[in-house]
Amino acid sequence: MVMNSYNIVNLSSVDSTNTFAMSNIDSLENFTVVSASVQTCGHGRFGREWLSSASGNIYASIVLKPKVDSLDISFIANYTQLLSVVVAQILETYDVAPEIKWPNDVLVNGKKIAGILCETAFRGTGLKGVVLGFGVNLNLSEADIALINQPAISLNILLKKQIDKDELLNKIIDSFVAKYDEFIADGFSSISLDYISRCNFLNKNVSIKTNTGVINGTAKCINLDGSMTLSLPSEDIVVYSGDLFWQ
Ligand code: BTN
Repeated sequence: MVMNSYNIVNLSSVDSTNTFAMSNIDSLENFTVVSASVQTCGHGRFGREWLSSASGNIYASIVLKPKVDSLDISFIANYTQLLSVVVAQILETYDVAPEIKWPNDVLVNGKKIAGILCETAFRGTGLKGVVLGFGVNLNLSEADIALINQPAISLNILLKKQIDKDELLNKIIDSFVAKYDEFIADGFSSISLDYISRCNFLNKNVSIKTNTGVINGTAKCINLDGSMTLSLPSEDIVVYSGDLFWQ
């Protein structure tokens, strides 16, 4: 079996590795990883800011150029779920116990340690490429964490020591690339057990903030396409995206 190979573009400072990768999507090859020491305009899902002024943390974006029929790109949403599994598994090798908050946040002790942002570039109806950005808190101070407007944690605080960012980034990319072909062949089902086993919110009362409002229900299951079924008093509904909250 031929291993997929990748190359890393290291930048000292950039507005956002996602923005850089999206702007240069034509010239960046499949499996190029853009990594930066700091970002001046790091952003997350729902237009939120991603604190990126502290070096020693992962701010990186993987460029992917899947060969797909332009009509069949629904699996792209699952890329973020694959990466959330990979990040959780690598963090476990550092003796912490991450959980996954649907669809793709990684938490430890209920606090966010990693976030993932997927963006797509099209030429007409054809897919030019996908940019899979991720930030992992590895070396934040308590003062940095106080600036984040949601519960957050960093690996150095959990382990009470400095973390080697390059080592962790390489482990994440190695694992992502190793799982990639099976994921392309089998989709979400290739990671469903690893994903679902880290979802602590299942069977709990949850709220999901969507573009059209907040839905309250019981998180019933994760489906084979990565969507979530919610039980409402009168019916079950399937949710494909949103921001999940639970007590
Ligand atoms: C989220 O949880 O809302 C997603 C956060 C994604 C942050 C990463 S850091 C590297 C890449 N560049 C960005 O501007 N965002 C992503």
